[in-house]
Amino acid sequence: MTVWDDLRKHRKATADRPILELFENDNRAPGFSVDLAGLLFDYSKTSIDETARDLLVKLAETTGVAPRAEAMFTGEKINETEGRAVLHTALRNLDGAVSVDGRDVMPDVRAVYERMRSFATDVRSGSFKGQGGKITDVVNIGIGGSDLGPAMAAIALSPYADGPRAHFISNVDGAQAHDVLAGLNPETTLVIVASKTFTTIETMTNAETVRKWMGETVRTPTAQFAAVSTALDKTESYGIPATRVFGFEDWVGGRYSMWGPIGLSLMIAIGPENFAGFLAGGAAMDAHFRAAPLAQNMPVMLALVGIWHNQICDCATRAVLPYEQRLSRLPAYLQQLEMESNGKRVAMDGSDLVENSGPVVWGEPGTNGQHAFYQLIHQGTRVVPCEFMLGREGHEPDLAHQHRLLAANCLAQSEALLRGRDLEAARALMAAKGLKGKELDRQARHRVFPGNRPSTTLLYPKLTPFVLGQIVALYEHRVFVEGVILGINSFDQWGVELGKELALALDPVLKGEAAADDKDGSTRQLVAYLRG
Ligand code: F6P
Repeated sequence: MTVWDDLRKHRKATADRPILELFENDNRAPGFSVDLAGLLFDYSKTSIDETARDLLVKLAETTGVAPRAEAMFTGEKINETEGRAVLHTALRNLDGAVSVDGRDVMPDVRAVYERMRSFATDVRSGSFKGQGGKITDVVNIGIGGSDLGPAMAAIALSPYADGPRAHFISNVDGAQAHDVLAGLNPETTLVIVASKTFTTIETMTNAETVRKWMGETVRTPTAQFAAVSTALDKTESYGIPATRVFGFEDWVGGRYSMWGPIGLSLMIAIGPENFAGFLAGGAAMDAHFRAAPLAQNMPVMLALVGIWHNQICDCATRAVLPYEQRLSRLPAYLQQLEMESNGKRVAMDGSDLVENSGPVVWGEPGTNGQHAFYQLIHQGTRVVPCEFMLGREGHEPDLAHQHRLLAANCLAQSEALLRGRDLEAARALMAAKGLKGKELDRQARHRVFPGNRPSTTLLYPKLTPFVLGQIVALYEHRVFVEGVILGINSFDQWGVELGKELALALDPVLKGEAAADDKDGSTRQLVAYLRG
Protein backbone atom coordinates (compact mmCIF):
# COMPACT_ATOMS: atom_id res chain seq x y z
CA MET A 1 0.00 0.00 0.00
CA THR A 2 1.32 3.43 -0.90
CA VAL A 3 0.54 6.60 1.03
CA TRP A 4 -1.74 7.54 -1.88
CA ASP A 5 -3.68 4.30 -1.32
CA ASP A 6 -3.91 5.00 2.40
CA LEU A 7 -5.20 8.48 1.71
CA ARG A 8 -7.86 7.19 -0.68
CA LYS A 9 -8.91 4.50 1.77
CA HIS A 10 -9.23 7.07 4.52
CA ARG A 11 -11.16 9.42 2.27
CA LYS A 12 -13.59 6.64 1.35
CA ALA A 13 -14.10 5.73 4.97
CA THR A 14 -14.82 9.32 6.03
CA ALA A 15 -16.51 10.75 2.94
CA ASP A 16 -19.95 10.80 4.54
CA ARG A 17 -18.84 12.50 7.75
CA PRO A 18 -19.90 16.17 7.74
CA ILE A 19 -17.05 18.63 8.17
CA LEU A 20 -19.12 20.35 10.85
CA GLU A 21 -18.86 17.22 12.99
CA LEU A 22 -15.10 17.73 13.19
CA PHE A 23 -15.75 20.96 15.09
CA GLU A 24 -17.09 18.94 18.03
CA ASN A 25 -13.44 19.03 19.01
CA ASP A 26 -13.12 22.57 20.42
CA ASN A 27 -9.52 22.83 19.46
CA ARG A 28 -10.08 22.14 15.78
CA ALA A 29 -9.72 25.72 14.50
CA PRO A 30 -6.32 26.51 16.05
CA GLY A 31 -5.18 22.90 15.55
CA PHE A 32 -5.91 23.04 11.82
CA SER A 33 -4.37 26.45 11.20
CA VAL A 34 -0.89 27.80 10.65
CA ASP A 35 -0.14 31.09 12.35
CA LEU A 36 2.92 32.87 11.02
CA ALA A 37 3.93 36.31 12.22
CA GLY A 38 0.63 37.98 11.44
CA LEU A 39 -0.62 35.63 8.71
CA LEU A 40 -3.25 33.08 9.70
CA PHE A 41 -4.00 30.18 7.37
CA ASP A 42 -7.11 28.36 8.60
CA TYR A 43 -7.86 25.03 6.91
CA SER A 44 -10.19 23.75 9.59
CA LYS A 45 -13.27 24.07 7.33
CA THR A 46 -12.08 21.09 5.25
CA SER A 47 -12.62 17.38 5.70
CA ILE A 48 -8.97 16.89 6.68
CA ASP A 49 -8.78 15.22 10.09
CA GLU A 50 -5.71 14.17 12.07
CA THR A 51 -5.31 10.90 10.19
CA ALA A 52 -5.61 12.62 6.82
CA ARG A 53 -3.13 15.28 7.87
CA ASP A 54 -0.63 12.68 9.12
CA LEU A 55 -0.90 10.83 5.82
CA LEU A 56 -0.56 14.03 3.79
CA VAL A 57 2.52 15.03 5.76
CA LYS A 58 3.88 11.53 5.20
CA LEU A 59 3.31 12.04 1.48
CA ALA A 60 5.38 15.23 1.60
CA GLU A 61 8.08 13.36 3.53
CA THR A 62 8.23 10.32 1.29
CA THR A 63 8.29 12.39 -1.90
CA GLY A 64 11.24 14.37 -0.55
CA VAL A 65 9.73 17.85 -0.43
CA ALA A 66 12.23 19.20 2.12
CA PRO A 67 15.44 17.98 0.41
CA ARG A 68 14.08 19.14 -2.96
CA ALA A 69 13.40 22.57 -1.49
CA GLU A 70 16.97 22.72 -0.20
CA ALA A 71 18.19 21.72 -3.66
CA MET A 72 16.22 24.67 -5.07
CA PHE A 73 17.46 27.20 -2.52
CA THR A 74 21.08 26.11 -2.96
CA GLY A 75 21.15 26.42 -6.73
CA GLU A 76 21.00 22.81 -7.90
CA LYS A 77 19.65 22.36 -11.42
CA ILE A 78 16.23 21.09 -10.42
CA ASN A 79 14.66 22.30 -13.68
CA GLU A 80 15.92 19.15 -15.33
CA THR A 81 14.21 19.47 -18.72
CA GLU A 82 15.92 22.80 -19.32
CA GLY A 83 19.09 22.05 -17.33
CA ARG A 84 18.61 25.12 -15.14
CA ALA A 85 18.75 26.08 -11.50
CA VAL A 86 15.64 27.67 -9.97
CA LEU A 87 16.68 30.69 -7.98
CA HIS A 88 13.98 33.34 -7.92
CA THR A 89 14.44 33.17 -4.15
CA ALA A 90 17.92 34.69 -4.59
CA LEU A 91 16.32 37.86 -5.95
CA ARG A 92 14.67 38.56 -2.60
CA ASN A 93 17.49 37.42 -0.34
CA LEU A 94 20.08 39.98 -1.31
CA ASP A 95 22.35 39.25 1.64
CA GLY A 96 22.39 35.55 0.83
CA ALA A 97 25.07 33.52 -0.90
CA VAL A 98 24.37 31.01 -3.62
CA SER A 99 26.39 29.55 -6.47
CA VAL A 100 25.45 28.05 -9.81
CA ASP A 101 28.08 25.96 -11.60
CA GLY A 102 30.55 27.01 -8.91
CA ARG A 103 30.02 30.75 -9.50
CA ASP A 104 28.60 32.99 -6.78
CA VAL A 105 25.59 34.59 -8.46
CA MET A 106 24.86 37.18 -5.80
CA PRO A 107 27.32 39.94 -6.83
CA ASP A 108 25.50 40.23 -10.18
CA VAL A 109 22.06 40.07 -8.55
CA ARG A 110 23.04 42.86 -6.12
CA ALA A 111 24.63 44.96 -8.86
CA VAL A 112 21.50 44.81 -11.07
CA TYR A 113 19.31 45.55 -8.05
CA GLU A 114 21.40 48.63 -7.25
CA ARG A 115 21.13 49.80 -10.87
CA MET A 116 17.35 49.31 -10.73
CA ARG A 117 17.18 51.35 -7.53
CA SER A 118 19.24 54.12 -8.95
CA PHE A 119 17.31 54.23 -12.24
CA ALA A 120 13.96 54.14 -10.41
CA THR A 121 15.12 56.96 -8.14
CA ASP A 122 16.23 59.04 -11.14
CA VAL A 123 12.93 58.51 -12.93
CA ARG A 124 10.91 59.36 -9.82
CA SER A 125 12.95 62.45 -8.97
CA GLY A 126 13.03 63.78 -12.51
CA SER A 127 16.79 63.48 -13.03
CA PHE A 128 15.97 61.05 -15.82
CA LYS A 129 13.75 63.01 -18.19
CA GLY A 130 11.77 62.47 -21.33
CA GLN A 131 11.81 64.96 -24.18
CA GLY A 132 8.96 66.80 -22.44
CA GLY A 133 10.50 66.74 -18.95
CA LYS A 134 9.75 64.66 -15.86
CA ILE A 135 8.37 61.19 -16.57
CA THR A 136 4.68 61.01 -15.70
CA ASP A 137 3.84 57.53 -17.01
CA VAL A 138 5.61 54.20 -17.37
CA VAL A 139 4.39 51.63 -19.88
CA ASN A 140 5.52 48.05 -19.29
CA ILE A 141 5.32 45.96 -22.45
CA GLY A 142 5.46 42.25 -21.65
CA ILE A 143 3.22 39.20 -21.44
CA GLY A 144 2.73 36.25 -19.08
CA GLY A 145 5.40 36.34 -16.38
CA SER A 146 6.74 39.60 -17.80
CA ASP A 147 3.39 41.29 -17.19
CA LEU A 148 1.14 39.56 -14.69
CA GLY A 149 3.34 39.99 -11.59
CA PRO A 150 3.99 43.74 -11.82
CA ALA A 151 0.49 44.38 -13.24
CA MET A 152 -1.13 42.51 -10.34
CA ALA A 153 1.12 44.17 -7.74
CA ALA A 154 0.72 47.69 -9.16
CA ILE A 155 -3.01 47.43 -8.44
CA ALA A 156 -2.52 45.63 -5.12
CA LEU A 157 -0.11 48.27 -3.85
CA SER A 158 -1.75 51.34 -5.34
CA PRO A 159 -2.01 53.02 -1.90
CA TYR A 160 1.81 53.12 -1.96
CA ALA A 161 2.10 54.44 -5.52
CA ASP A 162 3.61 57.92 -5.37
CA GLY A 163 5.68 57.85 -8.56
CA PRO A 164 4.80 57.90 -12.25
CA ARG A 165 1.65 55.98 -13.15
CA ALA A 166 2.25 52.38 -14.27
CA HIS A 167 0.47 50.98 -17.36
CA PHE A 168 0.69 47.56 -18.89
CA ILE A 169 0.41 46.39 -22.49
CA SER A 170 0.46 42.64 -22.96
CA ASN A 171 -2.05 41.44 -25.54
CA VAL A 172 -1.11 41.36 -29.21
CA ASP A 173 -4.62 42.75 -29.76
CA GLY A 174 -3.79 46.30 -30.86
CA ALA A 175 -6.87 47.48 -28.98
CA GLN A 176 -4.93 47.35 -25.73
CA ALA A 177 -1.97 49.39 -27.03
CA HIS A 178 -4.44 51.82 -28.57
CA ASP A 179 -6.42 52.29 -25.38
CA VAL A 180 -3.39 52.58 -23.08
CA LEU A 181 -1.57 55.04 -25.33
CA ALA A 182 -4.66 57.15 -25.91
CA GLY A 183 -4.33 58.81 -22.52
CA LEU A 184 -0.55 59.32 -22.55
CA ASN A 185 1.88 62.04 -23.55
CA PRO A 186 4.74 60.34 -25.46
CA GLU A 187 7.15 63.09 -24.42
CA THR A 188 6.83 62.22 -20.72
CA THR A 189 6.38 58.46 -21.04
CA LEU A 190 9.00 55.84 -20.24
CA VAL A 191 8.64 52.47 -21.98
CA ILE A 192 9.98 49.28 -20.44
CA VAL A 193 10.20 46.33 -22.83
CA ALA A 194 10.09 43.33 -20.50
CA SER A 195 10.81 39.98 -22.04
CA LYS A 196 12.99 37.22 -20.67
CA THR A 197 13.75 35.96 -24.18
CA PHE A 198 13.24 39.26 -26.06
CA THR A 199 11.66 37.24 -28.87
CA THR A 200 8.05 36.91 -27.73
CA ILE A 201 5.95 37.95 -30.71
CA GLU A 202 3.31 39.83 -28.73
CA THR A 203 5.89 41.88 -26.86
CA MET A 204 8.08 42.66 -29.85
CA THR A 205 5.03 43.63 -31.93
CA ASN A 206 3.70 45.93 -29.20
CA ALA A 207 7.19 47.42 -28.70
CA GLU A 208 7.26 48.36 -32.39
CA THR A 209 3.77 49.89 -32.17
CA VAL A 210 4.77 51.98 -29.17
CA ARG A 211 8.10 52.99 -30.71
CA LYS A 212 6.24 54.21 -33.78
CA TRP A 213 3.71 56.11 -31.65
CA MET A 214 6.50 57.76 -29.71
CA GLY A 215 8.47 58.50 -32.88
CA GLU A 216 5.67 60.79 -34.09
CA THR A 217 6.71 63.43 -31.52
CA VAL A 218 9.87 62.25 -29.76
CA ARG A 219 13.11 62.71 -31.73
CA THR A 220 14.87 59.58 -30.34
CA PRO A 221 12.23 57.23 -29.00
CA THR A 222 14.70 54.63 -27.72
CA ALA A 223 16.08 57.35 -25.42
CA GLN A 224 12.84 56.83 -23.48
CA PHE A 225 13.04 53.03 -23.67
CA ALA A 226 14.47 50.63 -21.09
CA ALA A 227 14.64 46.85 -21.34
CA VAL A 228 14.49 43.91 -18.99
CA SER A 229 15.73 40.61 -20.36
CA THR A 230 18.13 37.70 -20.15
CA ALA A 231 19.05 38.26 -23.85
CA LEU A 232 21.42 41.22 -23.68
CA ASP A 233 22.60 40.75 -27.27
CA LYS A 234 19.02 41.23 -28.46
CA THR A 235 18.34 44.32 -26.35
CA GLU A 236 21.52 45.84 -27.76
CA SER A 237 20.53 45.20 -31.37
CA TYR A 238 17.14 46.72 -30.55
CA GLY A 239 18.99 49.95 -29.83
CA ILE A 240 18.52 50.25 -26.08
CA PRO A 241 21.80 51.33 -24.43
CA ALA A 242 23.26 48.98 -21.81
CA THR A 243 22.79 51.63 -19.10
CA ARG A 244 19.04 51.13 -19.37
CA VAL A 245 19.07 47.36 -19.75
CA PHE A 246 18.49 45.28 -16.65
CA GLY A 247 19.53 41.69 -17.10
CA PHE A 248 18.73 38.52 -15.24
CA GLU A 249 19.76 34.91 -15.55
CA ASP A 250 17.94 31.94 -17.02
CA TRP A 251 17.49 30.48 -13.53
CA VAL A 252 14.62 32.91 -12.96
CA GLY A 253 11.45 31.46 -14.50
CA GLY A 254 9.11 33.95 -16.23
CA ARG A 255 6.24 33.42 -13.79
CA TYR A 256 8.64 33.71 -10.83
CA SER A 257 10.35 36.85 -12.05
CA MET A 258 8.54 39.81 -10.50
CA TRP A 259 11.09 39.99 -7.66
CA GLY A 260 13.88 41.13 -9.97
CA PRO A 261 14.16 43.51 -12.94
CA ILE A 262 10.74 42.42 -14.26
CA GLY A 263 9.45 44.34 -11.23
CA LEU A 264 11.05 47.60 -12.45
CA SER A 265 7.74 49.25 -13.38
CA LEU A 266 6.44 48.42 -9.89
CA MET A 267 9.59 49.75 -8.25
CA ILE A 268 9.23 53.03 -10.14
CA ALA A 269 5.56 53.31 -9.14
CA ILE A 270 5.87 52.52 -5.41
CA GLY A 271 9.51 53.50 -4.84
CA PRO A 272 12.57 51.42 -3.95
CA GLU A 273 11.78 51.38 -0.20
CA ASN A 274 8.35 49.85 -0.68
CA PHE A 275 9.76 47.45 -3.26
CA ALA A 276 12.33 46.39 -0.65
CA GLY A 277 9.42 45.73 1.72
CA PHE A 278 7.87 43.44 -0.91
CA LEU A 279 11.16 41.52 -1.22
CA ALA A 280 11.44 41.28 2.57
CA GLY A 281 7.98 39.69 2.75
CA GLY A 282 9.01 37.09 0.17
CA ALA A 283 12.28 36.41 2.00
CA ALA A 284 10.41 35.99 5.31
CA MET A 285 8.19 33.34 3.69
CA ASP A 286 11.30 31.61 2.28
CA ALA A 287 12.89 31.46 5.72
CA HIS A 288 9.71 29.98 7.19
CA PHE A 289 9.37 27.46 4.34
CA ARG A 290 12.96 26.28 4.81
CA ALA A 291 12.81 25.98 8.57
CA ALA A 292 9.31 25.05 9.75
CA PRO A 293 8.36 21.42 10.32
CA LEU A 294 6.07 20.16 7.56
CA ALA A 295 2.85 20.14 9.60
CA GLN A 296 3.42 23.76 10.72
CA ASN A 297 4.71 24.93 7.39
CA MET A 298 2.27 27.29 5.68
CA PRO A 299 3.21 26.62 2.03
CA VAL A 300 3.42 22.88 2.71
CA MET A 301 0.00 22.77 4.37
CA LEU A 302 -1.55 24.95 1.65
CA ALA A 303 -0.15 22.48 -0.90
CA LEU A 304 -1.35 19.44 1.04
CA VAL A 305 -4.85 20.88 1.28
CA GLY A 306 -4.66 21.33 -2.51
CA ILE A 307 -3.55 17.72 -3.00
CA TRP A 308 -6.34 16.49 -0.70
CA HIS A 309 -9.01 18.34 -2.65
CA ASN A 310 -7.72 17.81 -6.17
CA GLN A 311 -6.10 14.38 -6.24
CA ILE A 312 -7.88 12.65 -3.35
CA CYS A 313 -11.37 14.22 -3.34
CA ASP A 314 -11.36 14.64 -7.14
CA CYS A 315 -12.28 18.32 -7.22
CA ALA A 316 -10.98 19.46 -10.59
CA THR A 317 -10.98 23.20 -9.87
CA ARG A 318 -10.27 25.56 -7.03
CA ALA A 319 -11.48 29.10 -6.58
CA VAL A 320 -9.24 31.87 -5.24
CA LEU A 321 -11.47 34.49 -3.65
CA PRO A 322 -9.67 37.54 -2.29
CA TYR A 323 -11.91 39.85 -0.29
CA GLU A 324 -9.73 42.75 -1.34
CA GLN A 325 -10.62 44.60 -4.52
CA ARG A 326 -6.98 45.52 -5.04
CA LEU A 327 -6.19 41.80 -5.46
CA SER A 328 -8.41 41.75 -8.53
CA ARG A 329 -5.57 40.46 -10.73
CA LEU A 330 -4.32 37.89 -8.21
CA PRO A 331 -6.47 35.07 -9.63
CA ALA A 332 -5.03 35.73 -13.11
CA TYR A 333 -1.52 35.86 -11.66
CA LEU A 334 -2.11 32.57 -9.83
CA GLN A 335 -3.58 30.99 -12.94
CA GLN A 336 -0.23 31.38 -14.67
CA LEU A 337 1.78 30.48 -11.58
CA GLU A 338 -0.17 27.33 -10.82
CA MET A 339 -1.38 26.13 -14.22
CA GLU A 340 1.75 26.86 -16.26
CA SER A 341 3.81 25.25 -13.51
CA ASN A 342 1.80 22.13 -12.71
CA GLY A 343 -0.42 21.66 -15.77
CA LYS A 344 1.66 18.77 -17.11
CA ARG A 345 0.97 15.19 -18.17
CA VAL A 346 4.34 13.55 -17.75
CA ALA A 347 6.59 13.26 -14.74
CA MET A 348 10.15 14.55 -14.53
CA ASP A 349 11.47 11.25 -15.94
CA GLY A 350 9.13 11.38 -18.97
CA SER A 351 6.75 8.68 -17.73
CA ASP A 352 2.99 9.31 -17.65
CA LEU A 353 1.80 11.00 -14.48
CA VAL A 354 0.15 8.56 -12.12
CA GLU A 355 -2.02 11.20 -10.47
CA ASN A 356 -4.00 14.02 -12.04
CA SER A 357 -1.97 17.18 -12.50
CA GLY A 358 -2.77 20.58 -11.04
CA PRO A 359 -6.34 21.87 -10.87
CA VAL A 360 -8.00 24.62 -12.85
CA VAL A 361 -7.56 27.79 -10.80
CA TRP A 362 -10.06 30.60 -11.11
CA GLY A 363 -11.63 33.39 -9.13
CA GLU A 364 -12.61 37.00 -8.66
CA PRO A 365 -12.60 39.29 -5.68
CA GLY A 366 -15.43 39.16 -3.20
CA THR A 367 -17.99 40.54 -2.85
CA ASN A 368 -18.39 40.85 -6.65
CA GLY A 369 -18.12 37.08 -7.18
CA GLN A 370 -21.00 36.55 -4.75
CA HIS A 371 -23.33 38.21 -7.23
CA ALA A 372 -22.00 36.19 -10.13
CA PHE A 373 -20.74 32.63 -9.73
CA TYR A 374 -21.19 31.80 -6.02
CA GLN A 375 -24.59 30.32 -6.90
CA LEU A 376 -22.75 27.36 -8.44
CA ILE A 377 -20.33 27.13 -5.54
CA HIS A 378 -23.22 26.86 -3.06
CA GLN A 379 -25.77 24.79 -4.97
CA GLY A 380 -24.09 23.36 -8.08
CA THR A 381 -23.63 19.61 -8.34
CA ARG A 382 -19.82 19.78 -8.26
CA VAL A 383 -17.76 20.77 -5.24
CA VAL A 384 -15.40 23.72 -5.69
CA PRO A 385 -12.90 24.11 -2.83
CA CYS A 386 -12.61 27.82 -2.09
CA GLU A 387 -9.59 29.77 -0.88
CA PHE A 388 -10.74 32.96 0.82
CA MET A 389 -8.35 35.81 1.63
CA LEU A 390 -9.02 38.85 3.77
CA GLY A 391 -7.13 41.65 5.51
CA ARG A 392 -7.96 42.72 9.05
CA GLU A 393 -7.71 46.34 7.97
CA GLY A 394 -8.11 48.29 4.75
CA HIS A 395 -6.28 51.42 3.64
CA GLU A 396 -9.34 53.67 3.98
CA PRO A 397 -9.88 54.33 7.71
CA ASP A 398 -12.79 56.66 6.92
CA LEU A 399 -14.52 53.72 5.22
CA ALA A 400 -13.91 51.22 8.04
CA HIS A 401 -17.63 50.38 8.11
CA GLN A 402 -17.33 49.14 4.51
CA HIS A 403 -14.34 47.02 5.41
CA ARG A 404 -16.34 45.49 8.27
CA LEU A 405 -19.11 44.62 5.85
CA LEU A 406 -16.54 43.12 3.48
CA ALA A 407 -15.18 40.97 6.32
CA ALA A 408 -18.69 39.91 7.38
CA ASN A 409 -19.38 38.77 3.82
CA CYS A 410 -16.16 36.79 3.60
CA LEU A 411 -16.79 34.97 6.88
CA ALA A 412 -20.46 34.46 5.99
CA GLN A 413 -19.54 32.70 2.75
CA SER A 414 -17.25 30.13 4.34
CA GLU A 415 -19.80 29.61 7.12
CA ALA A 416 -22.61 29.09 4.58
CA LEU A 417 -20.48 26.64 2.61
CA LEU A 418 -19.76 24.69 5.77
CA ARG A 419 -23.22 24.66 7.35
CA GLY A 420 -25.58 24.86 4.42
CA ARG A 421 -29.30 24.83 5.07
CA ASP A 422 -31.21 21.56 5.32
CA LEU A 423 -34.66 20.76 3.98
CA GLU A 424 -36.30 21.14 7.34
CA ALA A 425 -35.00 24.70 7.74
CA ALA A 426 -35.97 25.52 4.16
CA ARG A 427 -39.49 24.16 4.77
CA ALA A 428 -39.81 26.25 7.91
CA LEU A 429 -38.88 29.35 5.89
CA MET A 430 -41.50 28.58 3.28
CA ALA A 431 -44.13 27.81 5.89
CA ALA A 432 -43.43 31.18 7.52
CA LYS A 433 -44.21 32.74 4.16
CA GLY A 434 -47.57 31.01 4.17
CA LEU A 435 -46.84 28.28 1.62
CA LYS A 436 -48.46 24.88 1.98
CA GLY A 437 -48.57 21.39 0.54
CA LYS A 438 -46.82 20.59 -2.74
CA GLU A 439 -45.88 24.21 -3.42
CA LEU A 440 -44.16 24.40 -0.03
CA ASP A 441 -42.20 21.19 -0.85
CA ARG A 442 -41.22 22.42 -4.29
CA GLN A 443 -40.11 25.87 -3.17
CA ALA A 444 -38.29 24.49 -0.13
CA ARG A 445 -36.14 22.17 -2.26
CA HIS A 446 -34.81 25.15 -4.24
CA ARG A 447 -33.75 26.78 -0.98
CA VAL A 448 -31.68 23.89 0.35
CA PHE A 449 -27.93 24.40 0.59
CA PRO A 450 -26.10 21.07 0.84
CA GLY A 451 -23.27 22.65 2.85
CA ASN A 452 -20.29 20.49 3.81
CA ARG A 453 -18.31 22.33 1.13
CA PRO A 454 -14.65 22.90 1.95
CA SER A 455 -12.85 26.21 2.16
CA THR A 456 -9.71 27.71 3.60
CA THR A 457 -9.18 31.29 4.77
CA LEU A 458 -5.95 33.26 4.73
CA LEU A 459 -6.07 36.31 6.99
CA TYR A 460 -3.45 39.04 6.93
CA PRO A 461 -3.11 42.31 8.85
CA LYS A 462 -3.22 44.75 5.90
CA LEU A 463 -2.18 44.55 2.26
CA THR A 464 1.24 46.18 2.63
CA PRO A 465 4.20 45.50 0.30
CA PHE A 466 5.58 43.08 2.91
CA VAL A 467 2.31 41.15 3.14
CA LEU A 468 1.95 40.95 -0.63
CA GLY A 469 5.50 39.54 -0.76
CA GLN A 470 4.53 36.92 1.84
CA ILE A 471 1.40 35.95 -0.10
CA VAL A 472 3.12 35.65 -3.49
CA ALA A 473 5.99 33.59 -2.04
CA LEU A 474 3.47 31.44 -0.14
CA TYR A 475 1.76 30.53 -3.39
CA GLU A 476 5.05 30.00 -5.24
CA HIS A 477 6.16 27.46 -2.65
CA ARG A 478 2.72 25.86 -2.62
CA VAL A 479 3.07 25.23 -6.35
CA PHE A 480 6.57 23.88 -5.80
CA VAL A 481 5.43 21.45 -3.09
CA GLU A 482 2.48 20.20 -5.15
CA GLY A 483 4.84 19.73 -8.11
CA VAL A 484 7.34 17.70 -6.08
CA ILE A 485 4.58 15.49 -4.66
CA LEU A 486 3.19 14.86 -8.15
CA GLY A 487 6.66 14.30 -9.62
CA ILE A 488 6.25 17.25 -12.01
CA ASN A 489 8.89 19.70 -13.21
CA SER A 490 7.09 22.91 -12.22
CA PHE A 491 9.62 25.11 -13.99
CA ASP A 492 9.25 24.41 -17.69
CA GLN A 493 6.28 25.21 -19.97
CA TRP A 494 6.56 23.17 -23.16
CA GLY A 495 2.78 23.19 -23.46
CA VAL A 496 2.75 26.77 -24.76
CA GLU A 497 5.02 26.09 -27.74
CA LEU A 498 2.80 24.34 -30.29
CA GLY A 499 0.25 27.14 -30.43
CA LYS A 500 3.04 29.70 -30.89
CA GLU A 501 4.49 27.75 -33.86
CA LEU A 502 1.10 27.34 -35.53
CA ALA A 503 0.28 31.04 -35.05
CA LEU A 504 3.48 32.01 -36.84
CA ALA A 505 2.56 29.72 -39.73
CA LEU A 506 -1.02 31.04 -39.87
CA ASP A 507 -0.08 34.73 -40.09
CA PRO A 508 0.95 34.49 -43.80
CA VAL A 509 -2.13 32.33 -44.46
CA LEU A 510 -4.37 35.09 -43.11
CA LYS A 511 -2.45 37.66 -45.13
CA GLY A 512 -3.23 35.59 -48.23
CA GLU A 513 0.44 34.88 -48.90
CA ALA A 514 0.26 31.16 -48.12
CA ALA A 515 -2.33 28.47 -48.77
CA ALA A 516 -4.36 26.78 -46.06
CA ASP A 517 -4.37 23.43 -47.89
CA ASP A 518 -2.63 21.51 -45.14
CA LYS A 519 -5.17 22.69 -42.54
CA ASP A 520 -8.18 20.77 -41.27
CA GLY A 521 -11.64 21.64 -42.59
CA SER A 522 -12.60 23.75 -39.60
CA THR A 523 -9.43 25.86 -39.71
CA ARG A 524 -9.86 26.33 -43.49
CA GLN A 525 -13.42 27.52 -42.95
CA LEU A 526 -12.35 29.99 -40.25
CA VAL A 527 -9.51 31.29 -42.43
CA ALA A 528 -11.90 31.76 -45.37
CA TYR A 529 -14.30 33.74 -43.18
CA LEU A 530 -11.55 36.00 -41.84
CA ARG A 531 -10.06 36.63 -45.28
CA GLY A 532 -13.53 37.85 -46.28
O1 F6P B 1 4.29 31.62 -23.35
C1 F6P B 1 4.83 31.29 -22.14
C2 F6P B 1 5.91 32.21 -21.69
O2 F6P B 1 7.14 31.70 -22.05
C3 F6P B 1 5.81 32.43 -20.20
O3 F6P B 1 6.34 31.40 -19.46
C4 F6P B 1 6.50 33.73 -20.05
O4 F6P B 1 6.24 34.30 -18.81
C5 F6P B 1 5.92 34.48 -21.22
O5 F6P B 1 5.81 33.51 -22.24
C6 F6P B 1 6.70 35.66 -21.69
O6 F6P B 1 7.98 35.31 -22.12
P1 F6P B 1 9.11 36.39 -22.29
O7 F6P B 1 9.36 37.01 -20.96
O8 F6P B 1 10.31 35.64 -22.78
O9 F6P B 1 8.65 37.41 -23.28
